[in-house]
Formats: sequence, C-alpha cells, structure tokens
Amino acid sequence: MRDINISELERKFQEKIDNDVKIEPNDWMPEEYRQTLIRQISQHAHSEIVGMLPEGNWITRAPNLRRKAVLLAKVQDEAGHGLYLYSATETLGADREETIDDLHSGKAKYSSIFNYPTLTWADMGAIGWLVDGAAIMNQVPLCRCSYGPYARAMVRVCKEESFHQRQGFEIMTQLAQGTPEQKAMAQDALNRFWWPALMMFGPSDADSKHTAQSVQWKIKRHTNDELRQQFVEVTVPQAELIGLTVPDKDLKFNEANGHYEFGEIDWTEFWEVVKGNGPCNKDRLDARRKAKENGMWVREAANAFAAKRAARKSA
Ligand code: 3HC
Repeated sequence: MRDINISELERKFQEKIDNDVKIEPNDWMPEEYRQTLIRQISQHAHSEIVGMLPEGNWITRAPNLRRKAVLLAKVQDEAGHGLYLYSATETLGADREETIDDLHSGKAKYSSIFNYPTLTWADMGAIGWLVDGAAIMNQVPLCRCSYGPYARAMVRVCKEESFHQRQGFEIMTQLAQGTPEQKAMAQDALNRFWWPALMMFGPSDADSKHTAQSVQWKIKRHTNDELRQQFVEVTVPQAELIGLTVPDKDLKFNEANGHYEFGEIDWTEFWEVVKGNGPCNKDRLDARRKAKENGMWVREAANAFAAKRAARKSA
C-alpha cells in the first residue's frame, strides 16, 4: 500500500512541475529533489561568500572614491546574496552551521572562478563584466526554477547582478579607451578570466551528472552548454565594441547559422580547480575559516544575549 502512495505522490509532484506550479517548503517532494536543491543552493551561497574575497582584496586599492564606493557596494551585495541563499537552504531543512562547515572542510564546492588571483585593478572590471555577466546568464533562468524560495531569491539577486555587470563593463571600457598601458592591463585581465568564466557554467552536457534530472525537475531551465553558448553570443560583441580581443584562436562567427563557434575548454584545468588544486583554493578556504574563528565571539555574545532574553521572558 505504501509503495502505491509514494508513486502517486511522485506522479502528482512531477505533474505540478510540468504545469509550472511552484514547489513550496511544506509541499511533499522527493528526497532526491530536496537533496539536489540543498546541494546546488548551498554551493551557490558558498560561491557568493567566497566570491567576496577576490574583489575585497581591491577595495582599499581602488583608484578613486567613486570606484571604491561602487566596489564596496558590490561586495556587500554578494554577502547579502550568500545569506539569502543560505536562508533558502534552511527552508529545505539544512542546518546553516553544518552547511558552512561543509565549505570550510572542503566537502562542499563553490564556483571554480573564485580560485583565480586578482592581480590588477582591471581584474575588478573583468570580474564584474565576465563573472557577473556569466552569473546573470545562469541566474535569470533560475528565477523560473521550480522551487519557490530559490526562484524568488533569484529575482532580487538578478537585479543587483545587473549593476555588478554594468560597473565591471564600465571599468573595462574606460581602461580599453585609456592609455596604451591601461588598455594592455584590460586585455591581460580578459586573457586571464575568459576561459575560467566559460568554466563557470559547469562541465559539458555530456559530462554533467546532474543536468538531465535538474532539467526534468525544472531546477535548471537550460543546460550548461546552452547557457555557455548564450554567454559567448552576448559577450564577444561587447569585447569587440571596446577594442579588446577574446583570447580564443578558434573563435569565429558562423555566418550560416548566425552563432559563434569557440575553442575547446581545458577540462583538465577545470576539474583540477574543482578538486581544490587551483591557484587560490587554499587561500580562499583559509580566509573563510579564519573569518569564522575571528567572528566566533560575536556569535557567542549574540547567543548568550538571546538565551538571557528568552530566560527573562519565560521567568
Ligand atoms: N565550479 C565548481 N564546481 C562545479 C562547477 C564550477 N564552475 N560547475 C560544476 N561544478 C560541480 C557541480 O557542483 C557538481 O558537483 P557536485 O555533484 O559535487 O555538486 C559537478 O561539478 C557536476 O556538475 P553539474 O553540471 O552536473 O552540476 P550542476 O547541475 O549542479 O550544475 C551549476 C553546476 C551550473 C554551477 C549549477 O550548480 C548552478 O546553476 N548553480 C547555481 C548558480 C551558481 O552556483 N553559480 C556559481 C557562481 S555564483 C556567482 O558568480 C555570484 C556572482 O555574484 C559573482
């Protein structure tokens, strides 16, 4: 009798998905759906928080007050995105502290892109333009994700990502139209961040172990390769507009089908970085662990205050 109930529940669940009815926290859902969402949303949150580190490195080195204020606002936005997404995992029953400990222990992933160093000010432009540009490509479809809290969180996040992408492209435009040294700095940043930005979309569809199921559950509305292609279609003309060259000798526009064709991604590099062997993986996790240690007194004080207030209320 129990088996018939479960298959009936799964049928009704998929019917809701197929009819674009949002799944809410208190709705019945297959355990695998719940676990997939906790995996993806928690790693998304980790990416936002770790993503603050490469840019935070340049807040005190910004070339003027306006750039400092804009970068500060962007990094603060990323913190908010992370907290928003950690809250979304809690609606699925995840424990916040355990989730964060999974990042610090190396058990959980975060986006590979944040394991590359930010060597010059132009990297702030390349990150806003390319990384947040790729994030927008990936996150706009997530606004239509089948899980209600994630979809709604993405609506707010995407509005802020657009500001992030525009400020980055503005930095790259000004540098590309500046002195020869400034243009060279912008081109160098594009050379170093172009391929890692393409890797943000994940492995090829053929090698993605989650895409097929995530598409069926409408967690993903497009595949990794589809979103990567969209990113290339949008971004290559932007590079050409400001006089920069995309570092891909195989990049060409196919007049017959109206799409760009681009070179092979170095998947060995991708998986090495995902496995923890990128240029900055160790620094990033050390920084996050240190942040937790340094902030422990705040958490302890807040918990002590909350416990005292609860005790007073119940007295
Ligand atoms: N970096 C690290 N790990 C990656 C990765 C990347 N760029 N791409 C894929 N992976 C991992 C996956 O997490 C999965 O490992 P797991 O099973 O241990 O979780 C494995 O590689 C197989 O990849 P799949 O494509 O099969 O996995 P997914 O279906 O989860 O797709 C994804 C990967 C496209 C990143 C998807 O998880 C996703 O859309 N996540 C939400 C968006 C997100 O996390 N973006 C990251 C950047 S956030 C950002 O840039 C913030 C901005 O404000 C700066």
